[in-house]
Amino acid sequence: MYQRYDAVIVGAGGAGLMAALNLAGHGHVAVISKLYPIRSHTGAAQGGIGAALGNLEEDHWEWHMFDTVKGGDYLADQDAVEILCREAVETVYELEHWGLPFSRTPDGKIAQRPFGGHTREYGKAPVRRSCYAADRTGHMILQTLYQQGIKNQVHFYNEFHLLDLLIEQGRCAGVVALCLATGEIYTFHAKAVILATGGCGRIYRVTSNALALTGDGMAVALRRGIPLEDMEFFQFHPTGIYKLGILLSEAARGEGGILRNRDGERFMQRYAPTLLDLAPRDMVSRAIYREVQQGRGIDGKNYVHLDVRHLGSEVLDQKLPDITDFVRTYLGIDPLREPVPVQPTAHYAMGGLPTDLEGRVVIDEKNTPLPGLYAAGEVACVSVHGANRLGTNSLVDILVFGRRAGRHAGKYIEENDWVPLPPSPDGPAQDLVNQLLSGNGNERAAAIRDTLQDEMMDKAGVFREAKGLEAMQQKLRELRQRYRQVKVEDRGRKYNTELLEVIELGGMIEISEALVAGALARQESRGAHSREDFPKRDDPGWLKHSLAYQTPKGIELKFKPVTITKFEPKERKY
Ligand code: FUM
Repeated sequence: MYQRYDAVIVGAGGAGLMAALNLAGHGHVAVISKLYPIRSHTGAAQGGIGAALGNLEEDHWEWHMFDTVKGGDYLADQDAVEILCREAVETVYELEHWGLPFSRTPDGKIAQRPFGGHTREYGKAPVRRSCYAADRTGHMILQTLYQQGIKNQVHFYNEFHLLDLLIEQGRCAGVVALCLATGEIYTFHAKAVILATGGCGRIYRVTSNALALTGDGMAVALRRGIPLEDMEFFQFHPTGIYKLGILLSEAARGEGGILRNRDGERFMQRYAPTLLDLAPRDMVSRAIYREVQQGRGIDGKNYVHLDVRHLGSEVLDQKLPDITDFVRTYLGIDPLREPVPVQPTAHYAMGGLPTDLEGRVVIDEKNTPLPGLYAAGEVACVSVHGANRLGTNSLVDILVFGRRAGRHAGKYIEENDWVPLPPSPDGPAQDLVNQLLSGNGNERAAAIRDTLQDEMMDKAGVFREAKGLEAMQQKLRELRQRYRQVKVEDRGRKYNTELLEVIELGGMIEISEALVAGALARQESRGAHSREDFPKRDDPGWLKHSLAYQTPKGIELKFKPVTITKFEPKERKY
């Protein structure tokens, strides 16, 4: 099947929809989505979107910028962070004007609450910066943007899975995707492609990420010679439901919830005396691991308690209704009466496809753009989050940089023609599907995936060291071999979700290779990358971004400098 559009966006979460809205009007635009758009993972973002509106107390975008840079352990590119924090404010008002039902202050302004690492006056105390719609902020954003997309006649291809990226004459020429309903392979010829496919948290066993978050956009681009930036930085959110990983929003701590160990102690007092439970996520997650290692997990197990009992039913019902419901449903616990078992859960890839400030994907240390290819949201690395993202900043990122990518691509499609398609554009994708559907090996995808997720959790999770990372590299080589022998039992074409899962798994292995190579090379601890064998941050050696390339010999790493404008790196204390 052949389709031609001026621009194709892959992914219908906040970044993809925002890009689509800003492209609509410049040409024919299609959004290809693995899911129905309003099931995209943006909907799982709970606690809010950070913007220095100053509705309840004084606040400034410069304070937001400082917090973001410091929270990211000084690895973020500060020109990008400045854009993020400045444009956050107008973005929130734009959402409000589009009808997003924000929670309100008594005098009718958008309500705001504290969140981890967000402070006033450059670190003095928590500030109320997170604009929220109860604990359903991402869900509301998704609904609002989708409605706008329909209104603006964006064309949606739902349940289409990305298989390949087409590059010809050094320019992006489109994508190839599998239609899940029919099993047909489509070639989408486009002047511009925006990848907004989200993250890859499913490479870990315990994760807050939905089943769909398998890093498809990252993997497809990596195979086409595009590097992945800073993949070694993977965030663990401190409060996932024990064993299940389902997110319990940081908003619970923003509203006053407290983390306690087996002795009932508010242990964050020892790790972050100023911000306590609202320290950045990397620090809180490490603190939980340390408590557990030192025998202070609940009942000697690998979890602690999130205590929200003192917040009372009014706060839980009005400000945290979804997570209250999750706890009741999944744990059979009433959070008003009992503390909630939580453990760190794999949440967010700080790394991804390197882009410039306009969302153009860049392919080398000199930031050379690949014409016609854009990325935004979690699949991308601008980099605004550096080594550790602050809560609420992912929603800002998807909207601010989704919009910038859409605007730039809008101009690009007006000024450029279609590049010819490569010969047999869907050939590699057809071969991949045919091989998988006719393979007669004896390996099960589920078993390979289980091993991958367990081992990544163990060896490339919150704490890392050379021995474990080297063992992980060996394990990944084995998994690649086993993957070659994988058997797809369902040989049908229609709604073959087994085939889909096997395709996803191939990409998950490749992304893990990039992550582990970066983690092994980076001999320091910074943000979410914590090396037991190199416990200190090393600015002279490692204040730089990594770029991981897939080559026939394995992952090759290159490096590029960090952009520092306003804030020189300092020791990070909270
Ligand atoms: O805790 C949360 O509500 C998650 C928000 C985020 O990841 O930004």
